[in-house]
Amino acid sequence: MTKKNLFARLTSFLKGNESAAKHNQFTEEEENKIMKIGIISGSVREGNNATAVSKWVMNFAANRTDEGVEYELVHLSDYELPLMGAKVAAEMQEQAGAAIKAWSEKMASFDAYIFITPEYNHALGGALKNALDYLNPEVANKAAAMVGYGSLGGARAHENLRIILAELRVATVRTTINFSLISDFENMSVFQPNEYHAANANGMLDDLLLWSKAFQTIR
Ligand SMILES: Cc1cc2nc3c(=O)[nH]c(=O)nc-3n(C[C@H](O)[C@H](O)[C@H](O)COP(=O)(O)O)c2cc1C
Repeated sequence: MTKKNLFARLTSFLKGNESAAKHNQFTEEEENKIMKIGIISGSVREGNNATAVSKWVMNFAANRTDEGVEYELVHLSDYELPLMGAKVAAEMQEQAGAAIKAWSEKMASFDAYIFITPEYNHALGGALKNALDYLNPEVANKAAAMVGYGSLGGARAHENLRIILAELRVATVRTTINFSLISDFENMSVFQPNEYHAANANGMLDDLLLWSKAFQTIR
């Protein structure tokens, strides 16, 4: 049994919850399975800030050298998804169908997600909402974390995204990373994150890895 398992069992036991203590024990197969985590860069705007933020998250996560975890950066802008329900011109239908299929398959391939989201009008961006509307079984019973940016660190976009993900049966961890457009960017466009974000990033990733492992057991 790993230290993490032992700690989880002990915590549950001390709280008098023997049933939870049993659930916190992973099988050897579950322990050894590679955890695939998609870092979803959630803006399609040309020259967007999401790309720099998602690269920072990718780099931070990779440097932690957690065992048995693989991270992959996915740019939403690489998938030219039509607006859900909108009429697609006949000559574009094949391309649109291929984009929807590729997006669906890519998202299904992950065990967990880190969504990088800007804040537009106190919510997540329209492109990310549209992309999520194409998904359901692909993401169900998985865990997610959120990284945002905006004048208040994308906090309102996070809470908006959290309820959308809940509807898709995606469990979001409590800790988020909130980059300020004022103090973590120069001219609101050149990403220069403050060092103190590392503490939140570590807390968020710790929670995400634990929850994604737990969710593997119920899929
Ligand atoms: C239409 C629009 C609405 C915006 N609304 C907000 C907002 O409500 N809160 C906020 O913090 N920033 C807001 N912003 C600023 C964006 O968060 C900022 O431009 C950010 O860089 C956009 O992300 P992106 O560059 O990755 O697309 C808004 C920007 C636009 C263009």
